[in-house]
Amino acid sequence: MNGASGRMGYRQHLVRSILAIREQGGVVLSDGSRVQVEPLLVGRDEAKLARIAAQHGIEHYTTNLDEALADPRWEIYADFLVTSARSAAIKKAIAAGKAIYTEKPTAETYADALELAQLATDAGVKNGVVHDKLYLPGLRKLKRLVDSGFFGRILSVRGEFGYWVFEGDWHPAQRPSWNYRAEDGGGITVDMFPHWNYVLENIFGSVKSVYAQTATHIPQRSDEQGRPYKATADDAAYGIFELEGGIIAQLNSSWTVRVHRDELVEFQVDGTHGSAVAGLFGCEIQPRNATPKPVWNPDLEDTHDYDADWMQVPNTEEFENGFKVQWEQFIRHVVEDAPHEYDFLSGARGMLLAETALKSAREGRKFEIPTVSLAEEPLTTDAHELTLS
Ligand SMILES: NC(=O)c1ccc[n+]([C@@H]2O[C@H](COP(=O)([O-])OP(=O)(O)OC[C@H]3O[C@@H](n4cnc5c(N)ncnc54)[C@H](O)[C@@H]3O)[C@@H](O)[C@H]2O)c1
Repeated sequence: MNGASGRMGYRQHLVRSILAIREQGGVVLSDGSRVQVEPLLVGRDEAKLARIAAQHGIEHYTTNLDEALADPRWEIYADFLVTSARSAAIKKAIAAGKAIYTEKPTAETYADALELAQLATDAGVKNGVVHDKLYLPGLRKLKRLVDSGFFGRILSVRGEFGYWVFEGDWHPAQRPSWNYRAEDGGGITVDMFPHWNYVLENIFGSVKSVYAQTATHIPQRSDEQGRPYKATADDAAYGIFELEGGIIAQLNSSWTVRVHRDELVEFQVDGTHGSAVAGLFGCEIQPRNATPKPVWNPDLEDTHDYDADWMQVPNTEEFENGFKVQWEQFIRHVVEDAPHEYDFLSGARGMLLAETALKSAREGRKFEIPTVSLAEEPLTTDAHELTLS
């Protein structure tokens, strides 16, 4: 577990996933037997690793990644590093023949992300990327609605993601400062569009084109030490996406918006037979036969309670932490070849969307998203001139 002391590495992957799996006695396999997990913490700061290991009763930790990769006891390499450090570490893990599970984005550029997918495939190593949003209760309910045919023909998806991230001057910021510096791999487009790509393609249909407008609304912020710095990365991205089947999706992503919604992310889906609004946890529906009939009249105050027209989709199953559920799937994939479709190629498609959106914002034009596939022939190191069309 490389980067196990970071924000995501520690909280979601170590504590909420691997330690929770260890606590429950391992992952249940298809024949009912269990496979147990044994974590090895990898990082740069030995004292920090020792502290975490002692706190959670973890036997193994090291600051030597190469040694860990050379040791056949450790079968899966997991990566939660800052994005800029990821691709070099994953290449070493591919060379060592490990199965690999990683945070998103898989690399800083589409070309690098595609190269990782190709190298992993050529080497025959199993690979997976975090697709956590698909495991959110609200999105699981939404997916069920789509699969049940509730919407009829889906027309559009409108998504609002965001909240106010403090500038860090009079009040500390609640996200690491590298997120606001392009030179350190920051920016809301590269952060969120990889998520939007897999959310859209797995629930509604793959993305065929994108038009995006990005902005750096707050040009100066203060870092963890209270020092002012120039915010060089985009802190808001307004995107329009055409999906397979003619669905239009509009997604606003912003760290410079104050919340007036029930949840930090919400998607409204409108179809011919019904509509839904899904958040992280909740999901409300309005079927066509319970749709009110508003009449536009600016002279009369409208007293209709539109919120009251919606119905909650009940919780009909237990939802566990999504990071843990996906870890269990990936472990089954490694141990007994169970399906796990969220691989490096999916990660590369996410980066392609992010990169194309940034290009669209720079040039003020809409771009098609080409189909991404791997070369039949193994990649040689000098043969990958991967550029965006
Ligand atoms: N799935 C999600 O919803 C989600 C949410 C937030 C972040 N992320 C992703 O998770 C990753 C980590 O983000 P975070 O918020 O936990 O960041 P973080 O800064 O808290 O943690 C990063 C980790 O990388 C290590 N690190 C930093 N620079 C390094 C270097 N040069 N070499 C080796 N290690 C280095 C740090 O010591 C730390 O352990 C990012 O790629 C980010 O995009 C995903």
